Amino acid sequence: MIKDVLLDDFNKIKFSNILLGHDGNKLIYKRKHNKADFTLITSLPGVGKTVLAKLIVAQKHLHGKPIVVFDTFSMDWYLGKYPNSEDYNLPRGLEPFPIKDYHCFNIDNLKKGEKLYKINILKYNEENFKSIGFSDAAASDLGPLIEDYGSSKTLKEFYRFIKSNFYKIRTKKDKSRGIGINLHKFEKVNLLRNLRKMVDQKCWVLDDNKKDSISITDFIQKKQNVCISFDGREDIARIEISRIVEEIIRWLAESKSHRRPILVFEEADSLIPHNPKPEDEYNVNILTSVLLRGRKLGLQCLYLCPKVWNLNDSITDLAHEFVFGKFRGKDYEKIKNIFGYRIAETSRKLYWDRFANYGRGIRNFLYINEQEELQTFVPFNSPIQIHRE
Ligand SMILES: Nc1ncnc2c1ncn2[C@@H]1O[C@H](COP(=O)(O)OP(=O)(O)OP(=O)(O)O)[C@@H](O)[C@H]1O
Ligand SMILES: [Mg+2]
Repeated sequence: MIKDVLLDDFNKIKFSNILLGHDGNKLIYKRKHNKADFTLITSLPGVGKTVLAKLIVAQKHLHGKPIVVFDTFSMDWYLGKYPNSEDYNLPRGLEPFPIKDYHCFNIDNLKKGEKLYKINILKYNEENFKSIGFSDAAASDLGPLIEDYGSSKTLKEFYRFIKSNFYKIRTKKDKSRGIGINLHKFEKVNLLRNLRKMVDQKCWVLDDNKKDSISITDFIQKKQNVCISFDGREDIARIEISRIVEEIIRWLAESKSHRRPILVFEEADSLIPHNPKPEDEYNVNILTSVLLRGRKLGLQCLYLCPKVWNLNDSITDLAHEFVFGKFRGKDYEKIKNIFGYRIAETSRKLYWDRFANYGRGIRNFLYINEQEELQTFVPFNSPIQIHRE
């Protein structure tokens, strides 16, 4: 049991630091600074990455920092709108609380309390179209088709127009090349099938005046927090996250604001993989370079990933701090290859028993700061609601 006197320490500090947990004798804090911070949290699934990230984010919220979460595959984070319904294993003095003004967007399959995140096709380029399923030829013709025939139409109207006029229309691009439209029947099928899919998914819009698109920096300026889920569509997530992060970077550079948001990337290894599929390469490269540019401007990011060896190595190489949880035996070899023997051996000794403690589990983590100092700790619970299995 942690000693009371140390818990009193925490009360004195009153959230001016980020508390992670304790080592049985003393409280363990994340180093606090206002500079760029890429922190990587990695473990087997189920060990407690998300809970730890929620503990960090909840404290950032108390410090007045805006929160932007990219929860590409699930909608776990929307629970941050509620206080943790079980108040065990929390640091003393930190009662469960909800994150107010927390807006949750999803791209299509809306749950209660979520809003639709609309995607503006006008912002998509040829490479973007390819990565979301258009064939090479369809992707290269879609941009000119939208430009010449898409204005003042809804997406549905545009789709119908293309469908019924397919062999009559010629884009300016075709005319300048002196040829008819360049699509074979096969490409027509691909183009129309993909457009049809977009029409059926409510999230896509042809939006000339941007009235539909949300601006994340507007939320940040209004001291509001945002969580976006992409229904598991990592292809779309990469494109949209690149845009959002770029918008935040521009705003940070122009406004010189001290309200630097904290950005959370769930399943970062799938989002920013080390070895992307050929069709994903372009978007992964863009996202990586945007994030690295952000790092220079003081971006604060939490990357959560079960398979850190799959994460793009420019993120792994440039991360400032790491938190490791338990892994499986064979994975320590991979960890050793990336992080070295000392870190692999220390994390090998980490503990996790999900059945212990009346089913609440017992776990510890390894925290590695920029000086490569290693500290093991028992993480506290999150004051905002967590996912329950
Ligand atoms: N610090 C903690 N205190 C109490 N319970 C915890 C803690 N960390 C994790 N848990 C329990 O373990 C469960 C799984 O944790 P969590 O969802 O954070 O794991 P994860 O590592 O993010 O898993 P995945 O890779 O599947 O996303 C939680 O729902 C919670 O019940
Ligand atoms: Mg998780």
